[in-house]
Amino acid sequence: MIVVERASAEDLRAIYSIGKESFNNDTCSQWPPYLFLEVAFASMPDNFIVAKHDDEIIGFVILNPNYEINGRRVCELSWIAVREKYRGKGIGSILTKEALNYVSVKYPEVELIVAYTRIDNIPIHRILRKNGFEASKKYFIYLDIEIFSQWVRRVLGAQKDEKAVILSGKEALDKLLEWYDVLPRMIEFPEGLNTFTLSSKQMLKKFWFKLEPDGFYVIMDNKLEGFGMIQTFWQHLYYGRNAWILSLLASPNRKIVWFQILNASLNYMLSRGIKTVSFTIHNSLESLTELGLKQKEFHAFPVLFWCKRLRG
Ligand SMILES: CC(C)(COP(=O)(O)OP(=O)(O)OC[C@H]1O[C@@H](n2cnc3c(N)ncnc32)[C@H](O)[C@@H]1OP(=O)(O)O)[C@@H](O)C(=O)NCCC(=O)NCCS
Repeated sequence: MIVVERASAEDLRAIYSIGKESFNNDTCSQWPPYLFLEVAFASMPDNFIVAKHDDEIIGFVILNPNYEINGRRVCELSWIAVREKYRGKGIGSILTKEALNYVSVKYPEVELIVAYTRIDNIPIHRILRKNGFEASKKYFIYLDIEIFSQWVRRVLGAQKDEKAVILSGKEALDKLLEWYDVLPRMIEFPEGLNTFTLSSKQMLKKFWFKLEPDGFYVIMDNKLEGFGMIQTFWQHLYYGRNAWILSLLASPNRKIVWFQILNASLNYMLSRGIKTVSFTIHNSLESLTELGLKQKEFHAFPVLFWCKRLRG
């Protein structure tokens, strides 16, 4: 019999092993290190769901209901996987249904539920479509670190703002929390295209910062000018150690701040042995060329971004 229930800390090893088997580090389904799971579980233990068959864990879903877009609460269906030998037997469908029910009961304030998938992952497309999700196209962009650093320096050029104060680590977190309410009014990089504008204050402190304190950057004058969050623990099958630019925000009319933050984080990336840098953009690649990046300088992998409205 298949039982679907909330995971316990003892289930993390099995979840990790299924994830490792399922997300084989290709272009868009990278699986994080075990530490990521531990920190995620410690900060949101309610949001790991497992499917069991005779007490063996055969599948899981990880949810993150701690995001906001324009003040609307958003839950990400972050990962779903079923042990290879149990696939095609309806378990992924059951897990998804249970996860959706769980979110609507446990987090009635959640208005949207979202997920990223590879463009060729037919089983998950079928599941999401059947459950009322709609897809739009996005791209994962990868750049060689050398090209990335040339690009940043090219854009900054003479525009380097010597007055800007750049904070990182705990100082950056503290400033960010102090000015947290300003963030929704900032512009995302590339303009208005990322989806996850805002993680809750709690999650910033308990999860993202805990995971990688040195990945936090804040630029300020006498007010907050920009914020960046960078993760350097991803490993890409083809491109090696990869840094994800998870958030990059700037005050309106201060887009140069994006590049100042990227520039500020470069040394840190290099010290971590990073080979490529990546981020997500929406629909069109033109915004990148407008930002001074030549087409031959980056790789763009199309992915699907799925969205289901729970209410609102
Ligand atoms: C995606 C995944 C969780 C689906 O789990 P599953 O238990 O195999 O899914 P189900 O058995 O419920 O099948 C889901 C649908 O896909 C179809 N399907 C299953 N395997 C298929 C295959 N190899 N080719 C085409 N369709 C397939 C099923 O017929 C079903 O569609 P239907 O309901 O219209 O009949 C599982 O394939 C997996 O772990 N993949 C690796 C990890 C991954 O890609 N996760 C999602 C990305 S975030």
